[in-house]
Amino acid sequence: MQPAINSAMRYAAITAIGRFLPDERLTNADLERIVDTDDEWIRTRTGIRERRILRDPDKASAYMASKAAQDLLEKRGLDPEEIDVIIVATITPDMFFPATACLVQESIGASNAWGFDLSAACSGFLFALATGAQMIESGRHEKVLVIGSDKMTGITNFEDRATCVLFGDAAAAVLLEPDPGECGIIDFYQRIDGKHADLLSMPGGGSLNPPTYETVAKGMHFLQQQGRAVFKYAVDGMARSAEEIMKRHNLGVDDIRYLVPHQANQRIIHTTARQMGLDSDKVILNIDRYGNTTAATIPLCFADRESELRRGDVLILVAFGGGFTWGSCYLRWAYDGSKVVGKEAEVRVAAEL
Ligand code: ACO
Repeated sequence: MQPAINSAMRYAAITAIGRFLPDERLTNADLERIVDTDDEWIRTRTGIRERRILRDPDKASAYMASKAAQDLLEKRGLDPEEIDVIIVATITPDMFFPATACLVQESIGASNAWGFDLSAACSGFLFALATGAQMIESGRHEKVLVIGSDKMTGITNFEDRATCVLFGDAAAAVLLEPDPGECGIIDFYQRIDGKHADLLSMPGGGSLNPPTYETVAKGMHFLQQQGRAVFKYAVDGMARSAEEIMKRHNLGVDDIRYLVPHQANQRIIHTTARQMGLDSDKVILNIDRYGNTTAATIPLCFADRESELRRGDVLILVAFGGGFTWGSCYLRWAYDGSKVVGKEAEVRVAAEL
């Protein structure tokens, strides 16, 4: 179905970014000491060299999300009371309820906000971005905080070499505000299909399989994945989503500044780019340093390249995750990142003098 784009519509633009990465690095060499794996297998099959882990058992996704939000607020010089909505994309909430968004609200002092968590696995940030954008487009809200935060090590089985090498912990946040012109989230294409829910899931802990000695003994509270099968669907879903959004808007490869893909596997990303006809220098990659950080991967890519991004740059975001969930987003970047990052550096230098 073609999107109904109203010419009088106001666009929701990303106007600030924040991030949180735990300090501790878990390298492939470290994993060689834990499971039967090797650096070469991990690098060639996934592209990952190291990932960050939040070891402190008293800190989890809400802590990382709050840190990312605080980073954003500080960089932007924004009062937390100005935030209208907080959406946290996560599959590793601190607990089923209260929602991570409530814990973040309290922690950052966003006393005028409402919000909720959104669960869509590796497509979580994309789905949350589209949800937040529509709150701005409707005219009801002016400032929506969209955060991707996952403490993946909390649901990772460090005895399973097929999954424990893949994931890392991180959070990143973006602020959505109305754009005065025509930059922001232009369009999105998103889908879900529960037919293959069992190929990638965490079967224990919910109302179907509440925690018992038996579910814990069976490892049902860990992420489980049939990697090879998921790989096939992920390649297809990412490539078709990108193609769909480009076709809808007559976008050619020369129009695109960057492809910003979810970072589950470098081979999936390269195949997607190849099918789009994009050169590799137009693809943002951070999987080598952070692994798969689930809902945080796409906003972490923005944070990595913020200084290079200019108002009007066209970005295509694509993701695929458990559910299955997948989709793409056509985004026109709204601000000159060099000014923000430059200002940040000036503040740092001034503080150090
Ligand atoms: N070290 C060494 N060998 C390993 C490891 C490891 N860490 N893990 C698996 N192997 C072995 C397997 O045992 C198997 O050996 P066998 O052939 O003797 O049986 C062999 O390597 C190949 O295993 P595959 O699972 O087929 O490996 P594959 O090349 O498919 O790579 C991977 C696995 C990286 C998981 C890949 O399938 C993948 O990326 N899948 C898609 C992941 C994805 O996109 N997920 C969605 C997002 S995640 C989310 O939503 C939370």
